[in-house]
Amino acid sequence: MIVPLLDLGIQLKPLREKIIEAVTKVVDSTRYIQGPEVTGLEDEVSEYCKTKSAVGVSSGTDALLVALMALEIGPGDRVLTTSYSFFATMGVILRCGAKPVFADIDPVSFNIDPIDMARILEADTEKTIKAIIPVHLYGQCADMGPIMALSEKYTIPVIEDAAQAIGAEYPDSKENWHRAGSIGLAGCFSFFPSKNLGGIGDGGMLVSNDTTFGELVRKLRNHGAEPKYYHSKIGGNFRLDPIQATVLRIKLKHIEKWHSSRRENAETYNSLFAETTLIKEGVLKIPIAVYKELAEEVTESKNYHIYNQYVITVKNRDGLISWLRSNDIGCEIYYPLCLHEQECLEGVIDKPSLPHSEKAARSTIALPIYPELTTRMQEYVVEKIVAFYLS
Ligand SMILES: Cc1ncc(COP(=O)(O)O)c(C=O)c1O
Repeated sequence: MIVPLLDLGIQLKPLREKIIEAVTKVVDSTRYIQGPEVTGLEDEVSEYCKTKSAVGVSSGTDALLVALMALEIGPGDRVLTTSYSFFATMGVILRCGAKPVFADIDPVSFNIDPIDMARILEADTEKTIKAIIPVHLYGQCADMGPIMALSEKYTIPVIEDAAQAIGAEYPDSKENWHRAGSIGLAGCFSFFPSKNLGGIGDGGMLVSNDTTFGELVRKLRNHGAEPKYYHSKIGGNFRLDPIQATVLRIKLKHIEKWHSSRRENAETYNSLFAETTLIKEGVLKIPIAVYKELAEEVTESKNYHIYNQYVITVKNRDGLISWLRSNDIGCEIYYPLCLHEQECLEGVIDKPSLPHSEKAARSTIALPIYPELTTRMQEYVVEKIVAFYLS
């Protein structure tokens, strides 16, 4: 049996005709920059995320970059973030001429640890930390309550890296849930094809409940021009393509169903692993959905996790990867090196001590979790993992 890590073809099949029709319409319109498909998607995403503004941009990376540009982050500034994330989270900080400062992760959720953040902020007596970027890793929100409390205490804006988490929800309490991206000053999404809402190329969006900030980003994504050819600010070409927007509008209508299927698949893996001795023997840990219990206390269905990735922690990770791949099972490491360990950072900052981040980078592996994955495929994945450790 072949189990790919992701199968975009199977998701495309029922939508293909509609997508081709919509793309053809954009082609025939000759309206290739901005236009009604982009504004239509912006309206729909801001309604979905419960934010006052949404600005379509060229990628998740550019959403983060333009947010930092809008905050005028530059040389001499530092940005507090996690080291256990995709490169873009740190890359944008460096591209602004600023430096990252890393808090460790909570080993249960893999998200940035507010206790370690508090330690770092307290030590920042010269007030060089000018922004905070928590990442909602794998589709589960970082612990935004304490993060926002720190943001208020130190008056530092929060830009949520929600690239993997569109639609994920964070509970203040069991009654009060907030969509990813709507909690900090702004939230940044990626429409990279492998995301829960993925385009047919690159794309991204920045959402904000601060309309002044949203409008500033709208200006910056188009070279800071307003009106055309008059530049009070230096921006860039960070525009979202209308072809991507029209495809994403079709896909957005299915996103809740896809989130639910991913959650069901996660539950299936959890029960299949529970039937083995792997967890008891300390060989394997399943991912923990930290807000699930609260979600179960309310009647309305909640996106306590959207499982952009289902990530297990295992012993002999690299051996398992080779074994799974040799058995035609797609899997991936997100991420094999922490950001503070990247070569390009050598000499830029002092090496921090981030034991939980480093341990995660050495011991985690993402299994296939896409919505159309069948139970039989999941059984096969678990059978092969059991065979690796127990035979
Ligand atoms: C956590 C995180 N941040 C930022 C990005 C960047 O998004 P994009 O690939 O759309 O530039 C990604 C996407 O892979 C991501 O996973």
